[in-house]
Amino acid sequence: ASLELGPYSHYMQKEIHEQPKAIADTIAPLLDAGFVPALFGPRAADLLPQVQGVQIIACGTSFYAASVARYWIEAIAGVPCNVEVASEYRYRTVVANPSHLVVTISQSGETLDTMEALKYARSLGHDKTLSICNVRESAIPRASDLVFYTRAGAEIGVASTKAFTTQLIALFALAGTLAKLHGRLDDAAEQGYLDALRHLPGSVQHALNLEPQITAWAQKFATKDHALFLGRGLHYPIALEGALKLKEISYIHAEAYPAGELKHGPLALVDDNMPVVVIAPNDSLLEKVKSNMQEVRARGGELFVFADLDSHFSESDGVHVIRTPRHIGVLSPILHAVPVQLLAYHAALQRGTDVDKPRNLAKSVTVE
Ligand code: G6P
Repeated sequence: ASLELGPYSHYMQKEIHEQPKAIADTIAPLLDAGFVPALFGPRAADLLPQVQGVQIIACGTSFYAASVARYWIEAIAGVPCNVEVASEYRYRTVVANPSHLVVTISQSGETLDTMEALKYARSLGHDKTLSICNVRESAIPRASDLVFYTRAGAEIGVASTKAFTTQLIALFALAGTLAKLHGRLDDAAEQGYLDALRHLPGSVQHALNLEPQITAWAQKFATKDHALFLGRGLHYPIALEGALKLKEISYIHAEAYPAGELKHGPLALVDDNMPVVVIAPNDSLLEKVKSNMQEVRARGGELFVFADLDSHFSESDGVHVIRTPRHIGVLSPILHAVPVQLLAYHAALQRGTDVDKPRNLAKSVTVE
């Protein structure tokens, strides 16, 4: 371990713990200015008011940030939003609509598939392009009309953590800004969102404090070969990200499903050897998630539930519960990203894998 790691064992652990600061740094301009086009660069005041739809393109963890954003952009701004992985978008016959904003998300700003997808979009006539990126002056922001730089600081661990949560901040800023431009965000609602953002670093710190409990869960996971992650709505992409993290660094096979889809296939896999992680804060879909969980229990599946106090879950035989901080409304996916990162990290530690440099993977994929 180098001096740089301080009290942490790996860059990934350090970067998970840097999230309150990374988020605070990234929200600072937003708290100063509110939801204004200027957050996205000098040309945004001209380009963003013309936007009638959003197409987001990304790879890996950045794609899951996009998938959360789709819920925000449609629900808050009332603007249609599609998301697609870059390696698919770039090779398909796309019906382009130049009134749509093309958003690429890339921590490194150098991912080849994302860059090529951006070039393809431009070749189809898209002349409003936004890059959300963590590395200043990298290739993708340089090729884009607009840019929002996340302020996560250098990310070394191959599995993205603080870049992901700060990408979500950038995307929330985009949803709020489009909402305002479309007359869907009054002053009170704007202040409400800004207040929620202001409290977010503190809430994320509370989520980090769950590490000892999550470590205990990870000990149960380390011996398993498979895991299932469930979520609904805004938390479904967090289930996807939790499964991706677990497979990337612990090599446990993990899949995520929107909980309502359980009955259409994955339920056949559930038995007492299949841990099922559920992201279940108290939101409008909680009752639905609870009935999905009963289906798992009825088949002997062991449940590991991340729930806030208002979700009213109690521990019982085969049902483990970790209480996440008080429900924080639409920002809740950012908060719930943290415990699934910690779960993957500690499961990987138990299995003795090379957490910061998982086999076969690279931090930035600049070849096809
Ligand atoms: C690689 C990394 C992932 C990352 C993905 C996209 O696969 O291992 O952690 O999410 O690339 O990278 P980007 O820099 O474009 O966000």
